[in-house]
Amino acid sequence: MGRISKRHELNVNGVVHEIEAETTTPLLFVLRNQLCLNGPKYGCGYGECGTCTIIIDGLAARSCTIPVGLAVNHEIITLEGLSDGGRLHPIQKAFVDAQAAQCGYCLNGMIMTIAALLDRNPSPNDAEIRNELRFNLCRCGAHYEILEAVRLAIASMAQTRSGTL
Ligand code: FES
Repeated sequence: MGRISKRHELNVNGVVHEIEAETTTPLLFVLRNQLCLNGPKYGCGYGECGTCTIIIDGLAARSCTIPVGLAVNHEIITLEGLSDGGRLHPIQKAFVDAQAAQCGYCLNGMIMTIAALLDRNPSPNDAEIRNELRFNLCRCGAHYEILEAVRLAIASMAQTRSGTL
């Protein structure tokens, strides 16, 4: 029996897109191949590495394991949706300032996971940051710089909240 494509409406980065795909197609493939949102990366394809992470309804999630049919009626944010009119989000800026990238492949997942964390807990301690990132793999071993970037982001966002920046 042939596979059947269906129309789906996806709310991505505040815009509703109509796409056509089999209901079981991984959301990651639709984001990258149909919506040209290449922030989320394909790493393992089965939920282990974290490089495909997006935010759905405020929670970090692995887009490689989410069938597109289940993403309908949810609010999806990708890395592209974090920046504000071309201005980097403070987390993105902190990763640049801390030079947290080596190959950079894992950074989408690191940044999106931390964005979701800081949304619900603006001042996590190191143990909480490490715990949150424990399932995001970095094959270069840039963990120290990544932790430093998250600390920078926390400080910068706190300054903005207190009006001192
Ligand atoms: Fe999704 Fe690895 S590509 S977790």
